[in-house]
Amino acid sequence: MTIVCGQVPPAVIGAGGGLGDLVYPVDGIPAAGNALLADPAETVVVLGIEVILEEALAFAEQLRIERPQVGVILLRESLDIAVLTQAIRAGIREVVPVSEAHLLLEAVERIRQLSARVPLLPAAASGAPRGQVVTVFSAKGGTGKTTISTNLAVALAEGGTYRVCLVDLDLAFGDVAISLQLNPRRTVVDALSLGEELDSAKVASLVTNYSPGLDCILAPVEPGDAEKIPASLVAEILALLGGMYDYVVIDTPAQFSEHVLVALDASHHHVLITTPEVPALKNLRLTLDMLDLLSYSRNSRLIVFNRSDADVGLSAADVERVVKSPITAHVPSSREVPASINRGTPLTAEQPEHAVSRAIRLFAQEHVIGEPVAEVARRSGRGLRLRRR
Ligand SMILES: Nc1ncnc2c1ncn2[C@@H]1O[C@H](COP(=O)(O)OP(=O)(O)OP(=O)(O)O)[C@@H](O)[C@H]1O
Ligand SMILES: [Mg+2]
Repeated sequence: MTIVCGQVPPAVIGAGGGLGDLVYPVDGIPAAGNALLADPAETVVVLGIEVILEEALAFAEQLRIERPQVGVILLRESLDIAVLTQAIRAGIREVVPVSEAHLLLEAVERIRQLSARVPLLPAAASGAPRGQVVTVFSAKGGTGKTTISTNLAVALAEGGTYRVCLVDLDLAFGDVAISLQLNPRRTVVDALSLGEELDSAKVASLVTNYSPGLDCILAPVEPGDAEKIPASLVAEILALLGGMYDYVVIDTPAQFSEHVLVALDASHHHVLITTPEVPALKNLRLTLDMLDLLSYSRNSRLIVFNRSDADVGLSAADVERVVKSPITAHVPSSREVPASINRGTPLTAEQPEHAVSRAIRLFAQEHVIGEPVAEVARRSGRGLRLRRR
């Protein structure tokens, strides 16, 4: 039943069409929240014109985290671009003028169809440990960190079982927004104006939604803003995200910055990327030595050999010999990868059966979902003591 809060056009509820008996009327946001609690399968809430905008926005923000499958439709007297912008930012799916009953019915139908394609398994029911943090790193630029992290996040979120947050920690030159065609209206820089004490509601206000179940924290638009973000702030955000999502995937720059160390500290999985090129391999060897030196747990390491089939003279056996570690996953090379980035849709979402998509999905299922790590890889006895600013 569609939960309807407040007044809606008679044609929507009335006999002979509309939603008919399938409406569950409630008289305020708290009652709508209770109705959702009572019906875990419900996927649509309509908020009528008398619902105060700020309350509607806060409700949608909360639902986006707690019940990402629920679509909120907001009715207003007329369409106003400022309201529309705020509504989209809050995660409201559609804003409909109250006079257009047919548009409301179509919006309800769209949300129902989308939800039918996404199984409604609540994350807790899956039995997976919550808040597994995955840092994707390579000390060599251009090896495929952004490609692997975006596609991994999509693969973890697909099916709707898990809630995933992708964090772009390449603070100066992050590519996540452009790779996913997201408008970076909110970025991690906005965390600076959220006051001293962060909490999950404040962190929720930083995220940009990509698809049901997948949110992103985007890198600053101006490269100069990267310097304003203390590593301790990143640590706080990551700690809170761990309690809000099933998986947090972190894309990184190609250097051992303080921010990257904070991410490695907070991570259950260190996904280390190499390609079949001598400099990439050399840097992976140095990275592994560095991680050993910093006493990170070896249990957290997953080595991904990207472009593994590129016939350039270095085989998987060569890689394993040099890095003295087994390769966890092989991702083939394909022109479809840059083409998908140019189209702004990760290959895993666009062509789920492509060899690259299959390799990343298998990696996600077998090694990230399938092998949860109980403890973060934090360096023993060398914990960073970080203070904000
Ligand atoms: N499996 C692949 N097949 C073909 N091209 C790939 C593959 N993986 C990555 N690429 C291409 O390699 C380039 C670098 O990839 P990507 O941006 O993901 O690397 P990165 O490590 O994030 O780079 P940077 O260090 O600059 O952030 C991109 O043009 C991407 O399309
Ligand atoms: Mg990158």
